[in-house]
Amino acid sequence: MLAKLILFNTQFSEIMSVSALDVRVNKIEKSRIHQLDPKNIQFGKLYSDHMLIAYYENKAWKQAEIVPFANLSLSPATTFMHYGQAIFEGVKAYKNPQGEPIIFRPHDNWTRMNRSAVRMAMPEVPVDLFVDGMRQLVELDRDWVPSSDGTSLYIRPFMIAVDEFIGVRPAEKFMFMIITSPAGPYYSKPVSIYLEDRYVRAFPGGIGFTKAAGNYGMSMYPTQEIKKMGYDQILWTDGFEHKYVQEIGTMNVFFLIGDTVVTPDLNGDTILEGVTRDSVLTLLREKGIKAEERPISIDELKAAYKAGTLREAFGTGTAASIAPIAELTFHEEHMVLPAVESWEVANWLIKELADIRYGRKEDSHGWICKV
Ligand code: COI
Repeated sequence: MLAKLILFNTQFSEIMSVSALDVRVNKIEKSRIHQLDPKNIQFGKLYSDHMLIAYYENKAWKQAEIVPFANLSLSPATTFMHYGQAIFEGVKAYKNPQGEPIIFRPHDNWTRMNRSAVRMAMPEVPVDLFVDGMRQLVELDRDWVPSSDGTSLYIRPFMIAVDEFIGVRPAEKFMFMIITSPAGPYYSKPVSIYLEDRYVRAFPGGIGFTKAAGNYGMSMYPTQEIKKMGYDQILWTDGFEHKYVQEIGTMNVFFLIGDTVVTPDLNGDTILEGVTRDSVLTLLREKGIKAEERPISIDELKAAYKAGTLREAFGTGTAASIAPIAELTFHEEHMVLPAVESWEVANWLIKELADIRYGRKEDSHGWICKV
């Protein structure tokens, strides 16, 4: 089967082995870096020169390869295309002031990827394949890591089930890959949010806590509907009563109510354990700002808004980092938040996190992984 996964359009010019994880590297003959306009970087449009690929077969991971970015050839009967056994992660590399690429918290993404893998009956990915593989890939494509503020190299590890079989059962063959793409800001302005009380993202016992592809596929239709109404993203609510908030679009969500920052807790399998979410909670608590993880009801948000204590709201995620929310709408009710420029907490977090991620500030948490 492996031999049949042909990579098209590749010109292998060099074969070499690199330390740590033993990766076979086939370097591209001529870089496509000239296609990158550092002044106009759009999320997910352009992919760097190389990608990492590793196969799992007979209950073992085979040797990883780094090869030129190229299309894949797969059987139309490949499992993930039919039954969605597919998971992914999102990680970012930044350029530090010395011009070196650094990766933010890749071990945390590795842990989460394996949580997703277990739930989706997929094999766990060894840490050296995930982290060392990523480091070697970023090192090779270091020229693709942009350096201006607000830019980064978005790293997309993912795993798909690749049995050529349309019977329904957990697959036995898998592909793990990492592709990378230069990224600019995900949202150009504060987002406007619609509180969803018809469609549901996640139930207890479901897969809401994973980065399974299906979690994103199922959100397309409801998101398309609210975009037609003029909103940017959905605030997902629980599936039983539509009373408690869960996540916003593809991000975790935070509110500043009075002097306390609140975010939904992780109990119940419905919330993704975001790496940015954890970074934000850590920084807030270190700064002495009260941060609570607990259920948050729409009624509580409405009451806080009426009382004038709903001061700030923002989403967090790898792609968007910290995305301020301009307004929340629930049916006919609009909650317009104070001007983002006046926010103290979110604006402090945005700067603090950026300083750590770009290596401008000492990394006292062990979050920065050198390439
Ligand atoms: C991320 O923030 O990495 C995400 O998962 C969002 C992505 C689906 C663009």
